[in-house]
This record gives sequence, structure tokens and C-alpha cells, in this order.
Amino acid sequence: MFVIEERDFQEFAAYIRSNYGIHLKSAKKTLVQGRLGPLLARLNMTSLREYMDYVQADTTGQAATLMLNRLTTNYTFFMREPEHFRYFKRVVLPYLERTVEDKDLRIWSAACSTGEEPYTLAMIIAEYFSLQRDSWDTKILATDISQKALAFARTGIYDNGEVATLPKAWQRRYFKPYDANRSILIERIRNEVIFANINLMKTPFPFKKKMHVIFCRNVMIYFDTETKENLTERLYDITVPGGFLFIGHSEGLNRTKTRYKYVMPAVYRKE
Ligand SMILES: C[S@@+](CC[C@H](N)C(=O)[O-])C[C@H]1O[C@@H](n2cnc3c(N)ncnc32)[C@H](O)[C@@H]1O
Repeated sequence: MFVIEERDFQEFAAYIRSNYGIHLKSAKKTLVQGRLGPLLARLNMTSLREYMDYVQADTTGQAATLMLNRLTTNYTFFMREPEHFRYFKRVVLPYLERTVEDKDLRIWSAACSTGEEPYTLAMIIAEYFSLQRDSWDTKILATDISQKALAFARTGIYDNGEVATLPKAWQRRYFKPYDANRSILIERIRNEVIFANINLMKTPFPFKKKMHVIFCRNVMIYFDTETKENLTERLYDITVPGGFLFIGHSEGLNRTKTRYKYVMPAVYRKE
């Protein structure tokens, strides 16, 4: 196992923070050691400094991709924070149905990890619009910085144990057996989610049109306050008036600092 010199760690942490927003506190040293150790061993490197030089010198971006695959925490599950999804179905969708005249919904899952969040949204939307759906463009944009998480998400294949947490009717309607232990989402739901690799720190966001709804949940916990406040303001700028922001329950915004209006825990709105 390689040893992390404090100075190297501080430099590495500053590099990660300024490029990817992720705040590696000193306490995260062991985590970095555990997650990057095997990679450094494979590369025959013994210091974080050497590794950082290598990542920065790699113009293909592949080294950074591998680093991010290991460094990010991708924990997620279907229906996480279910009140959000209830509110989305009960209030947000009826509001959008009434007000979005061109029937083009723009919903963004901004740190989608392995896909459970955007696919949960896709199933709720499928239920809500049912037969009418063909006249609406309900595609969800789902993005993440981890290519590995995105590759997993694109398959739409999940362990049966995970699928079993969903309502029985959804399991029957939206999943098919894949192998002995896994199920696959039906194509109709998979096709409703467009996955892309977007780093939330990269300015400006690469969108032509503003979003009606943004789910940016359980990612800002990895950012420091300044990064979180800057990101929130950039999200505000690309939200349509009347649109919503959902964040994680442990990520509450400072209401004196944001232009979003508080709606309920971890739900905000642009007036
Ligand atoms: C814990 S998961 C959250 C997944 C889902 N939103 C949820 O609430 O269950 C956090 C995700 O944020 C992603 N992430 C971290 N930093 C990011 C950045 N700068 N840009 C985009 N995604 C990032 C990670 O790769 C990870 O998949």
C-alpha cells in the first residue's frame, strides 16, 4: 500500500476540488488510499504526486476517467427519498401538464449514478401520462461524472433484490427476467432516459434550453459550501420560472443565499 504524504494529499485534494467539486477532507485520506491503492500498484507508482502528474499529463482523459470511477461514491437505489417522488407525481407533473404548452418536458437527473433515480422518474411518468404519453416528449436527461456508473445505468439491468423493493405492479409491467439473479428494464423505459457524461463543475452547462425539473440529489454532500452555493446559483439560472429543484435531504440550502424559494424539505422552486 502506498503512503500518502500530507503535502501530496493537500495538492491532490485541491486538484480534485477545483476540477470536480469533490471536497476530500483530511479524514478522507484512508478512503483515497483504499480506492486508489490497487490502481497505483498496477501502475507501479508509489506516491500520490506521481499519480497526479500522470493523470494531468494524460491528454486522452482516460486516466482521469479511471480515477473518477474509483473516487466517486455511487450509492443509490430506486425510490430513494420517496416523498420527492410522491410530490413529483402529485404536484409537479400536474403543474407541468397544465403549463408546458409545447409538451416538451425537460427533466434532468444531474448526478444519476447507476440510473435508479432517472428510471424511477421514467416509471412515474409512464404511469402518469399512460395512453397520452405519445403526444408528450417526456425523455429524461441523466448525467454523471462516473463513466463506470453510466455504463451500468445504460444496461438497465438490476439485481432482483433491488427490483423487489418496487411495487409489484411495476415489477411486472416494467421489468423482464435477465438471468437467474437479475432483471432488465423494458426497452420502452430504457429509451426514456438519455445518459451523458457531464461534470457539474464545468461551465457553462451544455444545454440550449432551460430545465423544468432538476434532480441534483446526494452529490452536493461531497462539495464544500462555496462550491455548493455556486452550483445552486448556476442551476437556478438554467431552471425555467416555475420549475423545481430537488436536492438530497441532508443538503439543505441556505435560504438567505439562494434565489430558489423553499417548498418543502429538499424541494425548491424558481418563482
Ligand atoms: C451518491 S450518488 C447520488 C445518486 C442519486 N442522485 C441519488 O440521490 O441516489 C452521487 C453521484 O454524484 C456523482 N458526482 C460526483 N461529483 C460529480 C460532478 N462534479 N459532476 C457530476 N457528477 C458528480 C458521482 O459520480 C455519483 O454517481
